[in-house]
Amino acid sequence: MQIIRHPAAMIAWAKEQAKAGRSIALVPTMGFFHEGHLSLMRRAGQLADQVAVSLFVNPTQFGPQEDLSAYPRNFERDRAMAESAGVQALFAPEAADMYPAEFCTTVTVGAELTGQLCGASRPGHFAGVATVVCKLFQIVRPDVAVFGEKDFQQLAVIRRMTADLNLGVEIVAHPTVREADGLALSSRNTYLAPSQREAALSLSRAITLARKMTAEGERSAERLAAALRDFIHSFPETAVDYISFVHQNTLQHAAEIDEQTVLALAVKIGGKVRLIDNGKVL
Ligand code: PAF
Repeated sequence: MQIIRHPAAMIAWAKEQAKAGRSIALVPTMGFFHEGHLSLMRRAGQLADQVAVSLFVNPTQFGPQEDLSAYPRNFERDRAMAESAGVQALFAPEAADMYPAEFCTTVTVGAELTGQLCGASRPGHFAGVATVVCKLFQIVRPDVAVFGEKDFQQLAVIRRMTADLNLGVEIVAHPTVREADGLALSSRNTYLAPSQREAALSLSRAITLARKMTAEGERSAERLAAALRDFIHSFPETAVDYISFVHQNTLQHAAEIDEQTVLALAVKIGGKVRLIDNGKVL
């Protein structure tokens, strides 16, 4: 596996692949790999001749009060894990090379997709995500890029940006990987104190509860959200950021649940660790 640090070197690698007629699948990441990342890398390996993984904790998608400096990092461990997953190129640039001093371009996806859910409590977050993913697509020129379904709004934003800007990259969504008890894997799970682990299960269990209620005939998003809020708050140290029922593609609020509806949740555990999860409930 090649480790590539500079965008110009990554562009050269991508051109070499194109010249040799080899297709590229990109897995964009912020590192601190877990099984979820590895399953994205393995999926990427089924989709193209070469797998490139970007490892970049992108500063522009963190708000001033967020966890940029504390975000977990372990390059050596990540390098070994990516290699074991069969990755050919690990692109790990410095922030100064991705955003030189004169950098002044931002890709903004409309408020229809970015104004609600995580976008409401993380202003500027999706502009940071869209900008860095657009840059990564230009640098790596992948045929296909694989993203996890756990970041449901991010996936919708990237799909829209890729279509709107005719970036010519196929976006593949990969199912959320979970612990045996249902907790969605996330690099941020490492922030949880052992006593908060049970509270973190409130998200996946709320999705299970919503499925039970819809199976029994409930279709009102308002009634479901009220029941789920009480359920989540019955776990210690939880504070709901949002419980939303939205259309899977447009992310517009759904008053009545149907097959196109996704339940999206964000919950703060212990005042600090913000976890997200989502799932269909019908
Ligand atoms: O999902 C992530 O890890 C990040 O938001 C991404 C897509 C790598 C952009 O920095």
